[in-house]
Amino acid sequence: MPTLAQQHILLGISGGIAAYKAAELTRLMIKAGAEVRVCMTEGATHFVTPLTFQALSGNPVHTTLLDPEAEAGMGHIELARWADQIVIAPASANCIARLAHGFADDLLTTLCLASKAPLHIAPAMNQQMWANAATQANIATLKSRHIKLLGPASGAQACGDIGFGRMLEPEQIMQLLQADTSALPLNGVKVILTAGPTREAIDPVRFISNRSSGKMGYALAEAAQALGAKVTLISGPVALQAPPDVTLIKVESAEQMLNATLAHMPEQNIFIATAAVADYTPQEVVDKKIKKSATELSLPLKRTQDILATVTDRYPELFSVGFAAETHDLMTYARGKLERKNLQMVAANSVAGGKVFDQETNALEVVWRDGQHSFPEMPKRELAQQLMQLIAARYHSFKDIRSCVLN
Ligand code: CTP
Repeated sequence: MPTLAQQHILLGISGGIAAYKAAELTRLMIKAGAEVRVCMTEGATHFVTPLTFQALSGNPVHTTLLDPEAEAGMGHIELARWADQIVIAPASANCIARLAHGFADDLLTTLCLASKAPLHIAPAMNQQMWANAATQANIATLKSRHIKLLGPASGAQACGDIGFGRMLEPEQIMQLLQADTSALPLNGVKVILTAGPTREAIDPVRFISNRSSGKMGYALAEAAQALGAKVTLISGPVALQAPPDVTLIKVESAEQMLNATLAHMPEQNIFIATAAVADYTPQEVVDKKIKKSATELSLPLKRTQDILATVTDRYPELFSVGFAAETHDLMTYARGKLERKNLQMVAANSVAGGKVFDQETNALEVVWRDGQHSFPEMPKRELAQQLMQLIAARYHSFKDIRSCVLN
């Protein structure tokens, strides 16, 4: 199920008594695994101190637009780009009016204008202010721009009135955010992966295979799904359970893996080849068990077809990621593979001394045409989550560049 884990959430807090509830909301977001940065309006700082949110989020709180010190750290444009989603809770009547009219007269409204991230607002105000035609017109404007409304709820208000205008409880806001997949970076994106080893039959009881456990591929499938992707996993024989809701296609040989991959390829957006596909397969499969007789036996082998290269050749518009396992000259070979197989990204790991196979941890060097990134050694599941975030980010910039070129 998609979650808020690893999501960059910019939490905007505007001035209102419900600002105190934003402290609990911050705590719940952090607990759900999100990274939270808080931006408070001047009014909000009169209700709760920025220090509270700094302590809860573990990050400095952003309050003013023209603060040279803050701009030297994470400037407002960087902050706007950093956000995967923006949540304003509470959103006062004034804040809603300024958003509806596109103002950029404080940091929060400027960030909202400067960011492409989906925006959620949790209104909180007196029931008469909520019912006022001006507020309702502003809300209609925001809705027409696909800004998501979280509440408000009805009930007793701090001012003594009863009616609509109360901010939703933090738990309710979290439920709505977690149920909404539209903000996830791979929402609506189709990801297909190959994983595990292949088995090349020699006779009915013997085969050639390798030590791949499939752990990285399965962890990446899970990570892609958590980011909102629709995932198809073409897997060789492994002792792992596929994440629920992933379309799992089990195969044995390199040829079956190629055929299954091609059969599921049309309409995919991202292809990640993590499988350790056999490079060679017996020229012939003997249909009866080979009996031991001669003192020596040689087995003629032939090359298998490269699945990754075949796919990139047929689907050059696909965002394709390859893996490379090298004992030496990691980066040189990784860059070579990038060019040779026409890939958008290569993730390379060192297998010097036979490490990596069936291990719980791994480290990766990732390269693309004009950049690279190193992931230090960490558990494979965590590494997969971080790599998937990077793949999602690179995929979106690849798509943006392609659409600029095509337009
Ligand atoms: N791959 C594939 N089909 C094959 C062989 C490899 O899809 N028949 C994919 C793997 O899943 C991986 C990448 O290609 O993503 C690895 O490329 P490859 O050139 O096979 O790398 P190595 O096995 O490291 O090969 P070599 O050391 O021989 O260059």
